[in-house]
Amino acid sequence: MNEFLRFKYFLHYQWRAKSKYYLHSPFVYQFYLNVLEGSDDEQLRRIHLLRKELCHDNSKVQIKDLGTGGATTKTISAIESKVAVRNKYGHLLYRLVSYFKPENILELGTSIGLSSIYLAVGNKSATVTSIEGSGSLIEVAKRNYAAIDINNITNLEGDFDEVLPRFLKTQPQLGLVFFDGNHKKEATLRYFQLCIEKANPETIFIFDDIYWSREMIEAWMEIKNHPQITLALDVFQFGICFFRKEKLAKEEFVLRY
Ligand SMILES: C[S@@+](CC[C@H](N)C(=O)[O-])C[C@H]1O[C@@H](n2cnc3c(N)ncnc32)[C@H](O)[C@@H]1O
Repeated sequence: MNEFLRFKYFLHYQWRAKSKYYLHSPFVYQFYLNVLEGSDDEQLRRIHLLRKELCHDNSKVQIKDLGTGGATTKTISAIESKVAVRNKYGHLLYRLVSYFKPENILELGTSIGLSSIYLAVGNKSATVTSIEGSGSLIEVAKRNYAAIDINNITNLEGDFDEVLPRFLKTQPQLGLVFFDGNHKKEATLRYFQLCIEKANPETIFIFDDIYWSREMIEAWMEIKNHPQITLALDVFQFGICFFRKEKLAKEEFVLRY
């Protein structure tokens, strides 16, 4: 999608987005106070320092392109600045995990491991499993985990289409899933359908880049209207879904963040 259209969507988001003063749902109000406006702690400073180093690292990584079977080369600094989750949204992942404390976290799309670090630091007793198709990126991710002493992340290498169904067979339930891999509509909906089989009322799904393309906007529309999703929150970069059963009617909020 071109920048102009994205900007238009962003203005539309800003116009619709509500602050905490307009929220009548107690659950969403608490979410706003504790997650969107929650405080950051010392642990995030270490991630910040790691990112500062990575943004000056011009060493190159060969990345396997799962679509073509070929490879592209990128510097670590370019991946840090253009591919990895931005700091602001990394903090949001961290606060989501530290507030809701999911035990079993799954990520689709590791890259150099920055989002998995925010997830893992949010609850050090959780198990984070992160799937990535490119082995060379996993190597870099593992170095980053070691640099800040993170040891609750397991990496699985391979195409989501092969690894995800295999992984899900071994899992009774999923606590939180961060979908940040293949941003095509059909693939996003397919991974959603697979993961929903392991969702329970406490599960949280987070979709990255819901306004990245027309396909992603359409995927988000379908996801948030799925009958099992009882609450959908739109913070522009992320769409966040809840399956909570205490809610009588489906709710949807666009929240200012
Ligand atoms: C946007 S990046 C992930 C960024 C990362 N979550 C972060 O914020 O630090 C998406 C990653 O998904 C991987 N990927 C895309 N399609 C995939 C597939 N079908 N199977 C496995 N990995 C895939 C890419 O190699 C890429 O590293």
